Amino acid sequence: MKRTAWIALGLIVLAAGAIAVRHFMPREVRIDASDTRAVARGGPLYAAHCASCHGRNLEGQPDWQSRNAQGRLPAPPHDEHGHTWHHDDLVLFEVTKYGLTKHAPAGYQSDMPAFEGVLSDEDIVAVLAFIKSRWPALIHDKRREAGMN
Ligand code: HEC
Repeated sequence: MKRTAWIALGLIVLAAGAIAVRHFMPREVRIDASDTRAVARGGPLYAAHCASCHGRNLEGQPDWQSRNAQGRLPAPPHDEHGHTWHHDDLVLFEVTKYGLTKHAPAGYQSDMPAFEGVLSDEDIVAVLAFIKSRWPALIHDKRREAGMN
């Protein structure tokens, strides 16, 4: 093969590698509660897609810590009284996009829907930014101390 052909082949291999890395590496997810545009976009999305279960004021379903008749857990609050804030941004993103499957034991039954195909990644980040914007400063401090953002 000519030298130029080798160079071309090398470039193709490099490009394919870069695409593979982009595709298979988990992307960094950053949910910024101080991004006012994301929060403004997330509020109505929350009302439309999450409030029916997690509560208009993020208060969760009544008695959310006890399993229902089907043995499933009700929707927990997303405010400071729940445990949403214990999870880092990537977990929150993945639970919203894919449901709990990836973060629960195999076969775990949950009423949390997966929003893949319903909300875009940007919508999911916006909804979560809205949720995070409702947390008091104390919660943000605790997350920072734990190395989360
Ligand atoms: C049909 C009811 C329902 C809707 C609608 C719903 N959820 Fe949930 N969600 C649940 C339930 C139930 C759980 C708890 C599941 C479990 O623990 O098995 C949950 C759990 C979660 C958790 C994990 C919380 C934790 O502390 O572990 C996150 C994050 C979450 N939901 C985000 C959302 C977002 C964001 C929306 C809207 C885009 C949404 N949910 C819409 C029912 C719902």
